[in-house]
Amino acid sequence: MNRPFFIALDFDEHAKRHRFLKSFAAETLDVKIGMELFYREGLSVVHELKEAGYRLFLDLKLHDIPNTVGRTMRALAELDVDVVNVHAAGGKAMMEAALEGLDAGTRAGKQRPKLIAVTQLTSTDSRMLAEELLIDKAMDEVVVRYAQLAQESGLDGVVCSAHEVPLIRAACSDRFLTVTPGIRRQVDQVGDQVRVVTPGEAKALGSWAIVVGRSITAAADPLAVYREMNQDWKGATEH
Ligand code: C5P
Repeated sequence: MNRPFFIALDFDEHAKRHRFLKSFAAETLDVKIGMELFYREGLSVVHELKEAGYRLFLDLKLHDIPNTVGRTMRALAELDVDVVNVHAAGGKAMMEAALEGLDAGTRAGKQRPKLIAVTQLTSTDSRMLAEELLIDKAMDEVVVRYAQLAQESGLDGVVCSAHEVPLIRAACSDRFLTVTPGIRRQVDQVGDQVRVVTPGEAKALGSWAIVVGRSITAAADPLAVYREMNQDWKGATEH
């Protein structure tokens, strides 16, 4: 799978998503279905986008007891999506069960979806880590340890900030994948993302894939912005 550029389809209305995707008619897209879209439109949106030929990242961030996550992953594998995820905070047994479930649910002749783990949400800051989650380690240390735990559990990679990619690449194997949101063009508003990078910077830092939402979905001309950002992503020197 060459390096994906996932567009986050975070729309609050069916019609908006349709209009948006229609403007990309001629492009082969990688798209991310998040919780909002999945819980609103259900399995039909997965089938529809799969049939349209898009590569799909089903971003449902599972976190439950190992048995439940394993059985759920078995069901998700049957959807034949490309990437699914869990929270690393669910622990090793849960991540291993997720992987076993995916293996068991992948149909003969199909590729198992890649399984990645969320390390710490980018909305979690050091204060929250210490005061609310009672984790007394530095954020970098927590993120790297969670990435190693994901790797030890057999997962394919992690979701993380592009700024954390060099640390994770140093601590994990070369084949371990990093998927990074928090991507903007130089000219964009940052929004609620705290630390952002451009697609080219993400690639230079070593990101395997990027996730871009509002820079494209809220643009006056989404196709033009997508092409510009994709050019930056594809054209940048790989780390
Ligand atoms: O609009 P924006 O480009 O900030 O969208 C980023 C996307 O990546 C959203 O769908 C968001 O849910 C997702 N995401 C994130 N930070 C994480 C994990 C996922 O921003 N740590």
